[in-house]
Amino acid sequence: MNQSVSQIYVVDDDISVREALARLIKSAGLSVKTFATAQEILAALQNEVPSCLVLDMLLPDINGLELQRQLATRDIQIPIIFLTGHGDIPMSVRAMKAGALNFLTKPFHDEYFLETIRNAITQSTRNEVVAFGDIIGQSRACRRVINQIEIVAPTDATVMILGETGTGKELIAQEIHRRSGRRQKPLVRVNCTSIPKDLFESELFGHVRGAFTGAIKDRVGRFEAAAGGTLFLDEIGEISPGLQSKLLRVLQEKCYERVGEDRTRRADVRIVAATNRDLQKEVAAGRFREDLFYRLNVFPIIVAPLKERKEDIPLLATHFVELLAEQLGCPKPRLTKAGIEALQGYDWPGNIRELRNIIERAVILSQGGVLNFDLPANGSSVDQTFLGPRDGDQTEPGFLTESEMQRRERNNLFTVLQKTGWKIKGVDGAAELLGMNPSTLIYRIEKLGLKRPAPDCLAGY
Ligand SMILES: Nc1ncnc2c1ncn2[C@@H]1O[C@H](COP(=O)(O)OP(=O)(O)OP(=O)(O)O)[C@@H](O)[C@H]1O
Ligand SMILES: [Mg+2]
Repeated sequence: MNQSVSQIYVVDDDISVREALARLIKSAGLSVKTFATAQEILAALQNEVPSCLVLDMLLPDINGLELQRQLATRDIQIPIIFLTGHGDIPMSVRAMKAGALNFLTKPFHDEYFLETIRNAITQSTRNEVVAFGDIIGQSRACRRVINQIEIVAPTDATVMILGETGTGKELIAQEIHRRSGRRQKPLVRVNCTSIPKDLFESELFGHVRGAFTGAIKDRVGRFEAAAGGTLFLDEIGEISPGLQSKLLRVLQEKCYERVGEDRTRRADVRIVAATNRDLQKEVAAGRFREDLFYRLNVFPIIVAPLKERKEDIPLLATHFVELLAEQLGCPKPRLTKAGIEALQGYDWPGNIRELRNIIERAVILSQGGVLNFDLPANGSSVDQTFLGPRDGDQTEPGFLTESEMQRRERNNLFTVLQKTGWKIKGVDGAAELLGMNPSTLIYRIEKLGLKRPAPDCLAGY
């Protein structure tokens, strides 16, 4: 995020005023940049948003009120302090109504000016991005999770993270490890669904050579690999009853044996488990051992689905746009207010992972322009995220604008090209799938400026 906490921008066409204000602001230990015109400041605000803007009401190019209006249309929210030499009351009332923080008539007392700036900084940091390690959010639900991580991380307590798919359970597990006394030792993840049943015991506890067919040499298990560190048992709700009892034993007795060996080893690991299942229901249905549930559920952290904390969407979206544009090497696109509203209007069954994926596609397709999101109608399947027009979409106005048609064509071509690995001609090529002549397809790809992303750009699709 480009939010610099104590950077003040001053815009005044009078160089002596600019310099005097800059000296004053610096004397208060704050950092300052000065600008002579509205155009200069508008250009600077594309790269950075300061904590506060000190704005001369009568600038040579456009007046301060007009500049305030332009910032609002660009969705740039900064506390503004207006300066005027004329004490123009009607203008000040309009500026205040439009959200300006204060209105100072020159000459003013230095101390009063600095106090107004300090108030402005407090206001801008009140809405500050909450970034706790890699966890972004400012909703009450997110703050509660962050608070729980802070409390539990330094202890050795077993943690159970419960939440729908894509809500950030793994991220939370990583943060717990990173903030624990075990951070110098490994964090080992076991995906309980991906280990075949008959290999589970050996996977967790290791085995010795000859313990079973195929055990050609000794093998260290995950408990041993995580010694001194954290063992993250992901998708714990999926393990079979037989494996549940084996896990219960090691949790109770804090020791285990490698398969095929008598020697008992001490398990020095901190357990963090996660599941998207309702484990209490699983217990009630007899599918999950109650005693294991209580062993694991020492410190539960419940992660709310994204649809219940939509106020986090603007922050997350801004974060992903910046991150992905940089990672993908794409020009930075514009996330508009309408775009954010569209994102907030959707229910996100795949939660933050789905949000990230939708933004990744939009960043690739935007080519540095405005971001457009093709979101499925709420309630339809996640896999349909990238389809074109939808039947029965009540929000369709009955016709499409030129730019909307281009956007849809671009999305459609991109989807097919990804599907064929950018093969255009021949059997199973994109032209054949589209029922189109290959040279026509090549012409359209060029016309729409579609480019093949670098191979790692689409990781996760
Ligand atoms: N609060 C957050 N801030 C920033 N990124 C987040 C946040 N929560 C999740 N993510 C990102 O969303 C994606 C999914 O998160 P993660 O893998 O931790 O979810 P999960 O709950 O473990 O999902 P699953 O149940 O499917 O395994 C990751 O790319 C992660 O970095
Ligand atoms: Mg996960």
